[in-house]
Amino acid sequence: MAPAAAYDEIADWYEHEFLARTAPGTDPLGITRALRDLLGRGHGTCLEIGCGTGVHAAQVSELGWTPVGIDVSGAMLRHARGRLPIAMADATRLPVADGSLPAVIAVMVHTDMPAYPAVLREAARVLHPGGVLAHIGVHPCFCGGFADRGDPGAVVIRAGYTDGHWTKASWTDQGVRDKVGATHFPLPSLLHAFLDAGLVLERFAEGAGPVPVVLGIRARKLTDESAAAAPS
Ligand SMILES: C[S@@+](CC[C@H](N)C(=O)[O-])C[C@H]1O[C@@H](n2cnc3c(N)ncnc32)[C@H](O)[C@@H]1O
Repeated sequence: MAPAAAYDEIADWYEHEFLARTAPGTDPLGITRALRDLLGRGHGTCLEIGCGTGVHAAQVSELGWTPVGIDVSGAMLRHARGRLPIAMADATRLPVADGSLPAVIAVMVHTDMPAYPAVLREAARVLHPGGVLAHIGVHPCFCGGFADRGDPGAVVIRAGYTDGHWTKASWTDQGVRDKVGATHFPLPSLLHAFLDAGLVLERFAEGAGPVPVVLGIRARKLTDESAAAAPS
């Protein structure tokens, strides 16, 4: 039997309370827009790393892709069943062949994955040359245990941004971080993790104002030709 995952405890709350706060057809954090802009239209399999309850599967399908998902939480995956094909797997050891996928997405997961640099290396391994990775996560500059977002118009950034540590500290008891904790990657650490995985940064998005909650990144695995032409 798989070991219990942090989200097993909160899967029903995540599905029925946390996600249910977003009214159908609205996009308060700009995640839907970022996914549309960064993943874009395409076809073939799109693997969602940390798919949770599968809330993004319908949009991935609408964009023309065939969604599949992996997650470590059996309780989250129970909600995902029926939304997309799923497997229980760790994002640092994807059960997927090298170079076999045209697209991978990672949505609101990097702060749940202390080994996110290794996850990005896995994503790069399974992508085709030229394949796309869409990352959408909490904005490292304006979200974290160091950020008090109690007043959305005047976010207070305290010491702690550069620490890059796991914490359950939060300005609210209505969020995810206060329940399962979160790892923080300062912006350079996050961006370097993409570059160190051999991915090329292509486009960016921010969502939810006036101080963004979300940062999105489109990265691409080099084609064999562009890798050969790149300066060493
Ligand atoms: C905040 S939820 C996001 C779920 C979904 N992507 C969404 O946007 O609603 C984070 C998810 O990452 C999963 N997760 C955390 N660590 C993981 C790992 N090492 N491998 C796979 N999934 C993981 C959790 O179980 C959880 O379902």
